Amino acid sequence: MDRREENELLTRTGPGTMMGDLFRRYWIPALLARELPGPDCQPVRVELLGERLIAFRDTEGKLGLIDEFCAHRRVSLWFARSEECGLRCAYHGWKYDTTGQCVDLPSHPDHAQRIRLKSYPCLEQGEVIWTYMGPPELQPAPPAYEWSLVPGERRFISKRLQECNYLQAVEGGIDSSHVAFLHGGALRNDPLLAGSKGNQYTDQDRAPVFEIEEFSGGLLIAARRMIDGERYYWRITPWLAPFYTLIPPRGGNPVSGHAWVPIDDEHCWAWSLSYHPRRPLTDRERAAMEAGHGIHVRYVPGTFVPQANKANDYLMDRNAQKAGILYSGVEGIGMQDASLQESMGPIVDRSLENLVSTDRGIVMMRRTLMRAATANRSGGEIPGLDVTAQQVRSCAIELPCGTPFQEGARAGLFPELFSEPVTV
Ligand code: FES
Ligand SMILES: [Fe+2]
Repeated sequence: MDRREENELLTRTGPGTMMGDLFRRYWIPALLARELPGPDCQPVRVELLGERLIAFRDTEGKLGLIDEFCAHRRVSLWFARSEECGLRCAYHGWKYDTTGQCVDLPSHPDHAQRIRLKSYPCLEQGEVIWTYMGPPELQPAPPAYEWSLVPGERRFISKRLQECNYLQAVEGGIDSSHVAFLHGGALRNDPLLAGSKGNQYTDQDRAPVFEIEEFSGGLLIAARRMIDGERYYWRITPWLAPFYTLIPPRGGNPVSGHAWVPIDDEHCWAWSLSYHPRRPLTDRERAAMEAGHGIHVRYVPGTFVPQANKANDYLMDRNAQKAGILYSGVEGIGMQDASLQESMGPIVDRSLENLVSTDRGIVMMRRTLMRAATANRSGGEIPGLDVTAQQVRSCAIELPCGTPFQEGARAGLFPELFSEPVTV
């Protein structure tokens, strides 16, 4: 297969595509629970994997995620009235329940039973409404990710729109080698990263060596940096199929990760997941996250569009770039990443790349995704569905040069739920 074809296969997630079929095997974060605050609240447009859907909570609080368009003449049900356990189309009053079943068709009451819209099961866990868009007989157990299971006071979740294909974002998430450059300023100044010895280690060795290990959820992508001739500083980033990346912790700060969920092939939701497994977040931490520090961002009010975005050149500050305060001139880790990933175009042409050894994690991840998608097509096992896999953690650790990370960091990568993180 040539590189262009491979790029097509890796980046397309609509119905019937290789990746689309694979992603539909998992519970997917669909929207924040707070977007549907209560019974009969206003419905929300949700686009996932190229499918336009409408989410709502009925009179009894039941969740529905159904085709956005009315079966009659394809009007958007975003305009619908949420009443008496269903969504009633604003055009001619056809009404649907949370399973997509038409329950009232005022002009021809006998006809209703035969009309049904596509619908997907939903569940609410960890402030997120999840959906499963795959074959019903293959629906997996509910998600078991640690961040979704910790008590609410230990967690902060946000999402932002990213204007590019999900894979560019995933690749940024497992690429430790850009941190000292692009995020150099943030390592010094961001309140959610401060106070870690790892910041200094990251800064002093700018040519990390990558070692990659497969596990049942995907890959453990380990970047090692020399400390003093005897010890390495390891940052181990799990890539968890199909689209999670977990960021190694810095000191006692909360840990973070991302879910990069395709909206369509040219946009994705960047879910930013911060939590501390063992303690409530402090008021200071929560306030910093709300203010857009760490991996979180500030928004255009009333939207999930970042305040610094493509349309305003990410509020680029050339003076801060020149003065070395911000390496790229863009503020905030989230938008530093997003600005560069969006600059590659909506779907980057990977046949034009020149990959080097620090891109090994990325190469392996693409290969693993392809293999998983192929296995899925032939009824084989796919990674990331079992609880052990989902409860993998990132880890930052100092180890003697002779100790393989697979041994030295094992307890940090596969710990007991809600235990203290292994971090430097
Ligand atoms: S288009 Fe929805 S009821 Fe006619
Ligand atoms: Fe980054």
